[in-house]
Amino acid sequence: MLKKDVHDFWEQESCGEAYAIGSERAEQLRSHARTRYALEPYIPAFARFDEGSGRRVLEIGVGMGADHVEWARHHPALLVGMDFTGRALDHTRTRLHVERCESRLLRADAEHLPFADGAFELVYSWGVLHHSPDTAQAVREVHRVLAPGGIARVMIYHRRSIVGWLLWLKYGLISGRPFRSLDDIYAHHLESPGTKAYSVAGARRLFAGFASTAVTPFLSFADLLQGAAGTRHAGAIDAVVRRLWPRWLIRRFFGSCGLYLLVDARKEPAS
Ligand SMILES: C[S@@+](CC[C@H](N)C(=O)[O-])C[C@H]1O[C@@H](n2cnc3c(N)ncnc32)[C@H](O)[C@@H]1O
Repeated sequence: MLKKDVHDFWEQESCGEAYAIGSERAEQLRSHARTRYALEPYIPAFARFDEGSGRRVLEIGVGMGADHVEWARHHPALLVGMDFTGRALDHTRTRLHVERCESRLLRADAEHLPFADGAFELVYSWGVLHHSPDTAQAVREVHRVLAPGGIARVMIYHRRSIVGWLLWLKYGLISGRPFRSLDDIYAHHLESPGTKAYSVAGARRLFAGFASTAVTPFLSFADLLQGAAGTRHAGAIDAVVRRLWPRWLIRRFFGSCGLYLLVDARKEPAS
């Protein structure tokens, strides 16, 4: 039961909890958001939270809820946030309360969204759909719940990435298994079991039901070994590697080898 394993993985610890530092809950959640946007300033740039203003917005996989509060701050006509773990919903509910924001939160599975066809004008999901066992079904659901002309903004993982190659070095080459595929490495060593990563063409195929789709590979903080990225894979030489990591070279020559694929897809407008 892969779905249950994925659920149990995220129920143990939500994504980014390492950044929730402080003695009180409000302080922890604010510390998490500060670190998140300091490390990943490209998230607001991609999400364009201001475009939620006056629209019906759905966020799939709210996690610790930092982005969800940003959507709420821009006063959507309707805001719904969902996740299939109680832990993520608890973080997000508390954060909404702390920041005096409103949203409807519910526990649901991305592969079976409990909403009518065309219920939303914007669907946002950051780093979620590649964890769900049937990602193609989750994308079909995104398309279904979007109104004609609606926008999907989704981040999924990119197969040809520096993070993938680093994991392959550790769990493939150095472990004496050089023929392990990147897909196998992602499924077993990057976050929840069964995590998938896509080529640009593969991502376009996933979103083929949309009228237009832009897919952009993007260097993440994890490719640049910033923050706590990858520390659960760290060995004794981690600190040295982090210090010597040639970030300028990676930015200059490997900009298209980032872990993230930023997908901006539009549903066919009404005729
Ligand atoms: C890597 S976290 C990302 C969370 C948040 N979007 C962020 O950027 O921090 C993945 C989240 O997706 C949720 N998730 C994974 N598969 C799901 C599914 N099929 N339905 C609903 N939520 C799912 C997990 O519970 C987890 O909270």
